[in-house]
Amino acid sequence: MTRQRPGLFDPLRFPMTNSVPNFVCHGCGARVAIDAALPFACPNTRDGDDIDHLLVPEDGPPAFAPGAETNPFLRYRALLSPYRLARAAGLSDAAWDDLVDALDQKLVAVDGRGFRVTPMTAQPALARALGRDAPLWVKDETHNVSGSHKARHLMGVLLYLRVLEAARLPAADGLRGRKLAIASCGNAALAAAVVARAADWPLDVFIPPDASPAVVARLVDLGATATICDRRPGETGDPCVTAFRAAVRDGALPFGVQGPDNGLAIEGGRTLAFEIAEVLAHAGGDPGTLMVQVGGGALASALAQGLSIATAAGRLARMPHLIAVQTAGCAPLARAFGKTAGVDLAEAARHRANFMWAWETTPHSLAHGILDDETYDWLEIVKGVRGSGGSVVVVDEAAVARAHALAHEHTDVDASATGTAGLAGLVAAPVPAGPVTVIFSGVER
Ligand SMILES: Cc1ncc(COP(=O)(O)O)c(C=O)c1O
Repeated sequence: MTRQRPGLFDPLRFPMTNSVPNFVCHGCGARVAIDAALPFACPNTRDGDDIDHLLVPEDGPPAFAPGAETNPFLRYRALLSPYRLARAAGLSDAAWDDLVDALDQKLVAVDGRGFRVTPMTAQPALARALGRDAPLWVKDETHNVSGSHKARHLMGVLLYLRVLEAARLPAADGLRGRKLAIASCGNAALAAAVVARAADWPLDVFIPPDASPAVVARLVDLGATATICDRRPGETGDPCVTAFRAAVRDGALPFGVQGPDNGLAIEGGRTLAFEIAEVLAHAGGDPGTLMVQVGGGALASALAQGLSIATAAGRLARMPHLIAVQTAGCAPLARAFGKTAGVDLAEAARHRANFMWAWETTPHSLAHGILDDETYDWLEIVKGVRGSGGSVVVVDEAAVARAHALAHEHTDVDASATGTAGLAGLVAAPVPAGPVTVIFSGVER
């Protein structure tokens, strides 16, 4: 494979900073220096304290200077805390290239592809079918590693673990003896299994009894250990998440895509927003509206954070209006959003239970990948929706089905109904005039 080297030395892209990145809890303000402690769950998290603990990277002064590489983990390196940690710990820029390249080659061996900037193209036939004149952009994540955007989240985590090891930092102590763990039976589990396999790191996956046999077979094929978690009578919340959290308490490393369990996972997903920002900036004019399907919330949270960085750095004239889309079968974010009207979000972060709790009924939808009991990353999404003048839309099953059908009829992207559910928002509700961007993710399996 040809080594992708950055171009001319660019001080904006490679800031001369020696400081170790910190993550800060948006609920309690705890600050975690990531060379000495793992920025996964907030260290102050206590059962029942009603604080919305979530570690978020403390970003430096606004900067957005992508490189020319096609691998997003090279192209946006300066915006990633594992890279900043590597440099602060004395590793060279070339050492980062080597870490990313080595993993990329393993990913190609395991999954047939590594990370590359994914296509984002205007889809005029789809726009016409929906009666829209302005561009309808589709960002296609179905050819990303493991067939969805989820692997982006986890690659960020893995690169961090690799940097800890390579630089022999204090937080690397005992790391290799700890397994990775995730609760999922869909795209996130497949992504975790591919990335873990590429790194030769053992993975436990906690799955429900009705997990797809094809997905389970692939997980096992990739070397993951799958544990079925039955729901006990009277139990609320997702039993797989409960089992996952117990494994983490026993020493496993959280390798899922839920921010409160692993703040770092959100950061890897920001690369998707950086790519979108580049395309919208290049197109010029109004950045329009971004419609995103929301389950656990990591995707929308990462997009909100990444676009806000690109906007603060002046790359976009304003942040696209962020419209979060949930199905009527399970809409805890929409419920929370309604309750935050007129509320100071710093205050909301200290009274989580007033806004977010597990959906009470067993949800069903064609978009089954976004039926998370809770929107774990709800508060960052609400901030992004508010800050961008967006909204939260709830769609019925007819809209979910129509969006899926239209996507297949008018584009060549083979995305699942979960992966086209953002478009269902455009099918169901009026959206401001101007361009719209949607993310088609999760290849049809
Ligand atoms: C294809 C696809 N799109 C979007 C999402 C939503 O992501 P999140 O759970 O981060 O909200 C998922 C989640 O599983 C997914 O599989």
